[in-house]
Amino acid sequence: MSSPDGDTRAPGLGGARADEGTAAGAREGAVEFCGLRLAHRVINGSGTFDAVAARGVFGAALDERFPFAAYVSKTITLEPRAGNPPPRLWEAAQGLINSIGLPNKGLEAYMEEDVPALAGLTTALPAGTEAGARAAVPLVTNVMGSTAEELVELVDACHERREISAVELNVSCPNVKTGLDIGADPVLLERVVRATRERTSKPVIVKLTPNAADVPACARAAQEGGADAVSLVNTLRAMALTPPARGERPHPWLGGGTGGLSGPALRTVALAQVAAVAESVSVPVIGMGGVENTAHARDLGASSSAQTVQEARYRSTST
Ligand SMILES: Cc1cc2nc3c(=O)[nH]c(=O)nc-3n(C[C@H](O)[C@H](O)[C@H](O)COP(=O)(O)O)c2cc1C
Repeated sequence: MSSPDGDTRAPGLGGARADEGTAAGAREGAVEFCGLRLAHRVINGSGTFDAVAARGVFGAALDERFPFAAYVSKTITLEPRAGNPPPRLWEAAQGLINSIGLPNKGLEAYMEEDVPALAGLTTALPAGTEAGARAAVPLVTNVMGSTAEELVELVDACHERREISAVELNVSCPNVKTGLDIGADPVLLERVVRATRERTSKPVIVKLTPNAADVPACARAAQEGGADAVSLVNTLRAMALTPPARGERPHPWLGGGTGGLSGPALRTVALAQVAAVAESVSVPVIGMGGVENTAHARDLGASSSAQTVQEARYRSTST
């Protein structure tokens, strides 16, 4: 299997070959990101790579070639969530619409079971450094709440755990009062970020929603609230309809009604939004969305003026 720029892909570990994305970053050397030392510039997007499950499947081989310089957990909520009813996935032209609905075991079980397992991840240092040398992979815990109080509780719990290096706030959750995503309302977003920022000395990354009228305004609000970095793009709200059937009007295919679009179809949107945000804030910007190879990751970096850590997207198919 080979990607458009000629990199070969490792079977079994999906498309995110350990050194594929790092051609742009790791081989350029380690980076300092919000006070964290990263072996290179490639990290995963929340929810797209399950390191606990991967270790179960690949064992020590995963540790040998762990693909990411930091590991971002999937979204954790206060209480366990079952996620949305099926069907949960729709293969769109050049992308995927998911309506998974953030299933997770909840804060308590995550802290008890997953954090210890995710604490010891390491990755190889870039070529040119001491042979066999390894670097720790900082754990970034992604959390979501529907109120500031919920987010504060989640951040407090992360603050208590030395294994957790940073917190990412998923603000794509509807506000209980307005129904709007918290991250789509700059006034509310600034308030929520400030409330959480005050609770921890660890870096706070705000994962912006692309489903907002003015994404740069939201990024500025996150920065005003004290965010150490912003990340984007999350999935773009989308809908798939059932195939036409005789006598039946098409209706939403996904169990959740709507879902979020990711993948190649999202890349041009990500390029535009990351560039606009990078011009609007002075904090580092983590760019993601439709990245399939090193060139795409470089493009996202080149489109922004801020320091950018890029995501290599987890894919199991060749391109
Ligand atoms: C199956 C799936 C699950 C995801 N789960 C989460 C999640 O738990 N939390 C989150 O903040 N983003 C989640 N995302 C969004 C990704 O982290 C990323 O922002 C988005 O997919 C765009 O990047 P991509 O086009 O490279 O996939 C998920 C995306 C997918 C496809």
